[in-house]
Amino acid sequence: MMPPWTRDGARSAGAVFLIVAAAACAIGALGVPGLRAQVAFPVPAGYSVPADSTMPVGAMGVSIRRGREIVLHAADSLPGHVGNKLTCTNCHREAGTLASSGPWVGSFASFPQYNARAGRVIRLEDRVNECLRRSLNGTPLAADGRDMADIISYMAFLSTGVSHGPRPAWLGYRKLTPRAADAKSGAGIFSENCVRCHGPQGAGTQLAPPLWGSRSFAIGAGMSRLNTAAAFIRWNMPFDRPGLLTDQQAYDVAAFVLSHRRPDTPHKELDWPNGDPPDDAAYPTLAAQHKPK
Ligand code: HEC
Ligand code: HEC
Repeated sequence: MMPPWTRDGARSAGAVFLIVAAAACAIGALGVPGLRAQVAFPVPAGYSVPADSTMPVGAMGVSIRRGREIVLHAADSLPGHVGNKLTCTNCHREAGTLASSGPWVGSFASFPQYNARAGRVIRLEDRVNECLRRSLNGTPLAADGRDMADIISYMAFLSTGVSHGPRPAWLGYRKLTPRAADAKSGAGIFSENCVRCHGPQGAGTQLAPPLWGSRSFAIGAGMSRLNTAAAFIRWNMPFDRPGLLTDQQAYDVAAFVLSHRRPDTPHKELDWPNGDPPDDAAYPTLAAQHKPK
């Protein structure tokens, strides 16, 4: 018998879909401007989202559903804890179930885990609070409170059937080959593909959340890193035509987005305390400066 989490609602694995105008195919994929292939994100092998019908009944089911509502509507659900116009699922799309978008499927099963930015082993509760503090420019939740418990319940549910251990390969945003990015060329890509939803000043509209400015994610957020922003954009934006941009275009437009001001993250210079910041860290850290070369 198939385990319950592979039944209805499960996604098919492995396939790569090319949605292309016939002529654009080969050339567009090489990045010739004007001719573009829209390449859908290939769902990773073994990736499957548990169907709602498999949620437990009773108090546990109530907690799972409440946790999902919180991450979908963080500002309303966590008054005083959110400092911008974003919610969790703007980046972890479709309530954290979309494989292209930093999914939470299997995340619960890989914590506790060493985190280089914190320089220590962290729990899933700490990871949630880091996104709350940085990505939502807010303040942490009590680790032992009901809101945190419900968020963790929902994430545990999304890990149904994933055995506890090393991080599944599909977690995070699927990185592209790092390359030099040209923010000037990104400005043109932005007006052509992003302004209609995110607005000319990147401040957001009724259709889409802010990309920079005081109401967007803070400098200490993972999305402020070029490789991460490019990967998110490459596979998820434009929202209505994901996969439209080439890798280079995704890097250029990410560089343009990240060239603007955004909220600060206090104490960010203490990140990566072991002196191992990634190449695309968005700010200098003390440990890296003091590390002997
Ligand atoms: C601005 C975008 C953004 C927002 C908003 C955001 N996150 Fe994140 N989140 C990220 C990035 C980037 C990572 C790091 C992903 C990686 O490792 O590549 C991440 C990682 C995580 C992880 C670890 C996932 C894993 O790979 O195991 C969890 C859990 C998480 N976020 C929860 C949340 C929660 C809960 C909220 C809302 C309170 C939230 N995030 C809001 C961008 C965001
Ligand atoms: C059709 C409307 C639309 C277009 C066009 C569009 N976006 Fe988005 N974008 C959205 C929506 C809606 C979300 C929130 C996703 C969600 O909640 O599922 C989003 C989220 C984002 C996020 C993460 C959240 C945040 O506000 O930081 C980034 C970064 C982003 N878009 C960048 C871009 C870039 C760059 C382009 C152009 C290449 C683009 N988008 C084009 C609608 C759009």
